[in-house]
Amino acid sequence: MSNHSAAGTFEKVPTLIFSSSGEAASVLAAEVAALIRTKNEAGKNAVLGLATGSSPVPFYRELIRLHREEGLSFAKVITFNLDEYYGLPSDHPESYACFMREQLFDHIDIPASNINIPSGTVSSDQVFSHCRDYESKIDSVGGIDLQILGIGRTGHIGFNEPGSSRDSLTRRITLDRVTRQDAASDFRGEENVPRFAITMGVGTILRARKLALMAWGENKAEVVARAIEGAVTEAVSASFLQEHGDARFFIDEGAASELTKIKLPWLVGPVSWTPRETRRAVVWQSFKAKRPVLKLTDEDYNEFGLSDLLSEQGPAYQLNIRIFNQLQHTISGWPGGKPDADDTYRPERARPYPKRALVFSPEPQDAIVGMGGTLDRLVEQGHEVRLVSMTSGSLRVADSEADKFASTLLELASNADDPSAWRRQTEYAREVLRILEEKGEFGEDPALLRHLKGLVLRGELRDAGHALGIPAEQVVILDLPFYEKGRYRRFQVTDEDVKGVTQLLRDFKPHQIYATGDAADPSSVSALCFRLIGAALKACEGEDWASACNLWLYRGKEKPMEPHEIDMAVPMSPVQLERKSRALSRYAALSSLESSASEANRQNARHYDALGMAEYEAIESFHRWKRA
Ligand code: GLP
Repeated sequence: MSNHSAAGTFEKVPTLIFSSSGEAASVLAAEVAALIRTKNEAGKNAVLGLATGSSPVPFYRELIRLHREEGLSFAKVITFNLDEYYGLPSDHPESYACFMREQLFDHIDIPASNINIPSGTVSSDQVFSHCRDYESKIDSVGGIDLQILGIGRTGHIGFNEPGSSRDSLTRRITLDRVTRQDAASDFRGEENVPRFAITMGVGTILRARKLALMAWGENKAEVVARAIEGAVTEAVSASFLQEHGDARFFIDEGAASELTKIKLPWLVGPVSWTPRETRRAVVWQSFKAKRPVLKLTDEDYNEFGLSDLLSEQGPAYQLNIRIFNQLQHTISGWPGGKPDADDTYRPERARPYPKRALVFSPEPQDAIVGMGGTLDRLVEQGHEVRLVSMTSGSLRVADSEADKFASTLLELASNADDPSAWRRQTEYAREVLRILEEKGEFGEDPALLRHLKGLVLRGELRDAGHALGIPAEQVVILDLPFYEKGRYRRFQVTDEDVKGVTQLLRDFKPHQIYATGDAADPSSVSALCFRLIGAALKACEGEDWASACNLWLYRGKEKPMEPHEIDMAVPMSPVQLERKSRALSRYAALSSLESSASEANRQNARHYDALGMAEYEAIESFHRWKRA
């Protein structure tokens, strides 16, 4: 952990950066434990403000561990949750009340009467008094000692969407479009996400004596930087933490990646100029100056605060050529290596040819989103490509898909010459329709329904694979148990999951692996899958194929790579981009980020063009994954 809240940085609020969310969670949980004990020893209750979402999950797991293993008691703890979806009853699986029971309350000794969560079902005419009572209740127990917070991509704390004033109190609000998009997978589609919520106000939150905000993964990096370094503004409610006096951000390296001291360290202090950092600085400077790398001058380096780099590695002319060549060498239309070509400066080795390429997709659409064009090239260039979806993706499939299947089956049966021969199928279809009816729009899917939905996605993946020339027998769905047993934001992996991946690696013995999830929120499916691949590779350490295997990282729906991070840039022609879009169109449910994959690929190409490289239609980018 590094603590860089000191003067000389751009941070306006103390910020603790940790190498993992687990590490951050234990530090914060230990503080909370100390707070509870101190308050209790003084004969008082400890009052905690709690948050939902995936960010606090590791923290809650650590609190549960402290309770079980170190006797931390919550008998004298009073809690207030930040918010609740308006319209959801407390037994709805996506209600925050349910989330809190599952993630914390059911596993500790807190008395039910000490738990406070805004009600999602209070009638419209009671909302005002309910909110007022919530405020008074907080005051009546002496106020909140420590408020836990997450941050939404709109910069909200609780559900204080942009525009919430500094003095706002507990109230009903309308959810922002971005917030609803981010919750779409929880509710199987944006259209199902509630439109309103009841949330503590910014003013309510700022009344707490201490604030601790947690954020993980690169997708939060931009908004975290705005909250920590930007102006205090209603447009980013988390920026009000700067005015609190005892607020801290607990973030991981991914979420810290847009902070000035990480992104542009030369503006903050002395830098050790590693090759990657040098490339980052030159690329940044070229964008800033709006001139290609080879046209940067000594004066530019000085003007952009890079005189230090210039004196260490200049003059500009030589430094420019070096970085230009490095960037140039990342470009390759031969992701599997170009057979019989000199591979000294190519990202991937020429031999063996053909290669066995194993492409991991956390959910069935991820690999197509992140590297559809590259898949197409690998196949075209004669490699043996195996496309593996690690999970079934069944949680993404809308009820209407299952309904469509069951209704078609019933229709087929009723039109058959001998309907009695279809008895079993008819029973199955009726059962599906009955379950759909019974569980309602947002209810938990029982195994039979999840299985059917998994099959629907399996079909979509096969279709997408087909559009890219991958034969059906090379398309594998692992159906990892962690996914089948869990829900979004709350998955837990076990050894069984690692075994499944290890087995697959040993069977295929790949020369190349493509994976994603390194930059994702640690509780997301892609981050969990990434960690499983890491664990499985560890289990295979020392095996011949494993030591010779190259590992490539791509980005699925996460923030695209920046040019200095790219080790292999695979150009795409307009035709290939079209083929990728066609493959993506096979999926019924894509998030807005996923369906804009082609635009992200075009953006990569524009970046390379601006740096002075050849101008392509689009580029898919990869980072070399160096094993620890
Ligand atoms: C919701 C919650 C917030 C939470 C945010 C981020 O909007 N109301 O309190 O901080 O989600 O969620 P996550 O931690 O899953 O990214």
